[in-house]
Amino acid sequence: MNILITGAASGIGRATVLAFVRDARMRQEDAPRLVLADMNSAGLEETARLVDGQAETLTVTADLANAEEPKRLVDLVVKRFGGVDVIVSNAGILIPGSLRDLTIADYERTFAVNTRAAWLLGQAAVPHMEGRGGAIVATASIGAISPPPMIGAYGPSKAALCALIQLMAQEWGPLGIRSNSVSPGPTFTGMNQDVYSNPEARRRREAAIPVGRLGAPEDIADAIVFLSRPESSFINGIDLPVDGGMLTTLLQASLPAGEAEVSRGQ
Ligand SMILES: NC(=O)c1ccc[n+]([C@@H]2O[C@H](COP(=O)([O-])OP(=O)(O)OC[C@H]3O[C@@H](n4cnc5c(N)ncnc54)[C@H](O)[C@@H]3O)[C@@H](O)[C@H]2O)c1
Repeated sequence: MNILITGAASGIGRATVLAFVRDARMRQEDAPRLVLADMNSAGLEETARLVDGQAETLTVTADLANAEEPKRLVDLVVKRFGGVDVIVSNAGILIPGSLRDLTIADYERTFAVNTRAAWLLGQAAVPHMEGRGGAIVATASIGAISPPPMIGAYGPSKAALCALIQLMAQEWGPLGIRSNSVSPGPTFTGMNQDVYSNPEARRRREAAIPVGRLGAPEDIADAIVFLSRPESSFINGIDLPVDGGMLTTLLQASLPAGEAEVSRGQ
């Protein structure tokens, strides 16, 4: 499999690179061939080092807020490996703040990285995947469905990403290209290290997740690998929450403590 993964320098992206390598080894398949893209060159090199010669990798430093970059990346995979089978559009940013204070520049950068890049990657891949088949998997967020306050344009950018994936699924499904997204719940990565390094903040968040723990990057990576593989060949246009059940608790969280007890007793 020839795979492009963005945001591969850390967190979920790095775990996804390693999950593809592990998965192929377990199945005794040929090692995947991977193009790893990110803004963070040092992190990319570290990811490639962790692959440890078990798969062919090419690292590319790229700013996905730049509209030219997605096509350059797809063209690189095709040139290097002779085709592209899977695109994992995972790079994302969260610029904290209220809508009242949000700047146009931050709004536009958030949408450029979190939303537009996924469309441009897909658009560039279609001519190469058409007929041959392919899978596109984007990393959205449960914040698309239930956006918490003070995260700027992040929630809206992920909601638009999910809608985009649905449309790709309709337009490109007939060409043999499946498009899906995963929506991580709170997952301990560089994106939120500051918050969850605080034991009290971490405990409170874990208490709100039915399985009682934060997600690990590997939890999300395994779902991405599944949606990329032939085993999911009839799944197209979904958003898969990988959140320990957190999205199911919305109503409970809105009830005062006493009423929550009553509702649990029913
Ligand atoms: N960690 C969570 O709790 C959580 C929850 C929901 C969704 N997500 C999503 O998961 C994805 C991966 O995030 P993560 O948690 O692994 O965080 P992370 O910060 O470890 O990884 C994000 C990666 O994207 C890269 N990136 C950011 N802007 C970029 C740009 N303009 N061009 C190229 N690369 C860029 C970063 O350098 C980084 O390596 C993101 O899309 C994020 O929105 C994370």
